[in-house]
Amino acid sequence: MKREIGDKNIDSALRPSRWEEYIGQEKTKGNLRMIIEAAKMRGEAVDHLLFYGQAGLGKTTLAALVAKETSAPLRIITGSSIEKAGDLAALLSSLEDGEVLFIDEAHRLNPAAEEVLYPAMESRKLHIVIGKGTGAHAVSIDLPPFTLIAATTRFDMLSSPLRSRFGAIFHLEFYTQGEIAEILRRSAKLLSVKADGEGLEVLAKASRFTPRTANRLLKRARDYLAVKNLKVIDKETARAILGIMEIDDLGLEPVERKILELIALKFKKGPVGIRTITAASGEEQATIEEVYEPYLMKLGFIKRTPAGRVLEEEAVEHLRREQWRV
Ligand code: ADE
Repeated sequence: MKREIGDKNIDSALRPSRWEEYIGQEKTKGNLRMIIEAAKMRGEAVDHLLFYGQAGLGKTTLAALVAKETSAPLRIITGSSIEKAGDLAALLSSLEDGEVLFIDEAHRLNPAAEEVLYPAMESRKLHIVIGKGTGAHAVSIDLPPFTLIAATTRFDMLSSPLRSRFGAIFHLEFYTQGEIAEILRRSAKLLSVKADGEGLEVLAKASRFTPRTANRLLKRARDYLAVKNLKVIDKETARAILGIMEIDDLGLEPVERKILELIALKFKKGPVGIRTITAASGEEQATIEEVYEPYLMKLGFIKRTPAGRVLEEEAVEHLRREQWRV
């Protein structure tokens, strides 16, 4: 019996496991391959790496590829899961030779844990204090060669001592619409879903230049096909999916359109401060700054200026097309 891949396992099934399958981020990919190749030639662990950029652009996927290419085990944790410096010390001392330790959301590491990381990254030493009071003494433990890969959506929140200890820093960028269409084509094939060029184009345009969002739309389109007993994702099907998900042809969510409309009407296209937008929209400032704004700026819809956010004419035209009241 042919088994369908269940929704939960889809994300890992779609994740590229070889460089040849990884579409986009050409500069980063080229540099990484060179670093890995050189480390292999020298018989050393790959240097510590930092990936930063928007959520969903492939930071974890790249870390997994680095581990795979070096045949190293991969351990994944997130910065906020380390509560005490001792947790990180225990983890580091349990690393295997050559292991890749991936710390997601590295900006959430607490400062005491960061202190443990510095000597570990620099000289593969763990400095720990044993005992308390007058009997306390410091011991230094040697760690095996390992590679730390840290990922963050907030480069600005990483301390500079931590930043300076990475051998290479990569900024992951938004994908092009063409790359996203290619990723969608590959994913559709892996999921045995039929999609025509126009259908994929509609999904790609609404994907916010982000593979994770693209694959999410594809999964919902696949559900829609199954429920409606349809065979192909074409333009109409793709548009119907966007309608159901309440996102427009550029992938904007209702809350983003609300924010644009707010700046257009209430604040006469700005400039308006982020705090004012936060208060007026009822959204979290961090979400506005880290999720909505980067994409709106990429679209050229808003601009950050010293005086505040300014709405661009393209945004007004888009809202008009979407029949908003501006
Ligand atoms: N799936 C998610 N990201 C991908 C990428 N960059 N290339 C191919 N498939 C992907």
